[in-house]
Amino acid sequence: MNIILAIESSCDETAAAVCIDGRIISNIIATQKIHEQYGGVVPELASREHMKNIVPVVDEALAKANISLQDIDAIAFTQAPGLIGALLVGAQFAKSISLALDKPLIAVHHMQAHVLSNLIEDPKPAFPFLCLTVSGGHTQIVECKSPLDMKVIGQTIDDAAGEAFDKSAKLLGLPYPGGPLIDKYAASGNPNAYKFPEPKIEGLNFSFSGLKTSILYFLKNAGTSNVFKEEFLATVEERKNFIDENIADICASIQHRIVSILLNKLKKASEQTGIKNICIAGGVSANKGLRVGLDELGKKMGWNTFIPKFEYCTDNAAMIAITAYYKFLEKDFVGLDVVPSAKAEW
Ligand code: KG4
Ligand code: ZN
Repeated sequence: MNIILAIESSCDETAAAVCIDGRIISNIIATQKIHEQYGGVVPELASREHMKNIVPVVDEALAKANISLQDIDAIAFTQAPGLIGALLVGAQFAKSISLALDKPLIAVHHMQAHVLSNLIEDPKPAFPFLCLTVSGGHTQIVECKSPLDMKVIGQTIDDAAGEAFDKSAKLLGLPYPGGPLIDKYAASGNPNAYKFPEPKIEGLNFSFSGLKTSILYFLKNAGTSNVFKEEFLATVEERKNFIDENIADICASIQHRIVSILLNKLKKASEQTGIKNICIAGGVSANKGLRVGLDELGKKMGWNTFIPKFEYCTDNAAMIAITAYYKFLEKDFVGLDVVPSAKAEW
């Protein structure tokens, strides 16, 4: 039997989970509300919140799993990528426990963990599988051959999909994070009401920055054009009225374009690799348009599709714990001199 305690602190979620023999027994998350008023995550505030939250969150994870700290066989933490000050809190905490209890330390890559969130519950995808990881910070297509053998075959060259949702929402005057709100309004709108351009990017990479510019001009022109045209420029009031009257159609059209960019590349990746086990992960996989779109495309393409439960899609420690479980089996441990990293190639 092996018991692993895992900690996630890469961004604005302080999380801890306990995994026993590859099964998640507890999964506790403290979401930091403080950032809402600033319209985005403030790194220094995130670090301070992690320091406040980490002890109660770990205590709760242990209590819910009905174990004490002395029972654990290893301690895992998110080493990269993320906000450096935020990562440091989790890393130092994990190192202290490793040193005090003389238990092995496991360093986990946050993006690999998002991919392996698909292995937390049944039915699990068979290997090899492709995973589209879509979050506020990342957009990647990963080819996964075994739990610890994966490579990125496509990624965004500018904004992440979640950022595309959040920045579009900001242009519409919606609060942060705007992704879920666009999803909500889109439900009653017409996805073909307005046409936003699909970027022409080679291979399996993504780009969302052009879409943002196109939406900006579309709103500046109160829906009359997607490009800069002096003669269409609307007043602030006209723009606001246009948004208020057409919010559902605008959101549905934006969502439709973001989802089609994602799914077209996923289709291409499946055709290129011949892999038909297809997963999605990350916060944006909560999006209904993406879920329905994946389901429809999957049926057409003969894919086996997988989407983790919502609590495992957004940042969480269960995905860190499941990744650590596979590393534990391989005795893939690190020393106390390990350092967290804001960016990490893999
Ligand atoms: O994975 P995540 O919780 O955090 C990281 O960025 O690592 O992802 C957060 C992102 C935000 O950009 C948020 O707007 C987006 O996921 N998101 C959504 C939805 N729910 C969360 N975007 C579109 N539709 C949703 N329902
Ligand atoms: Zn994440």
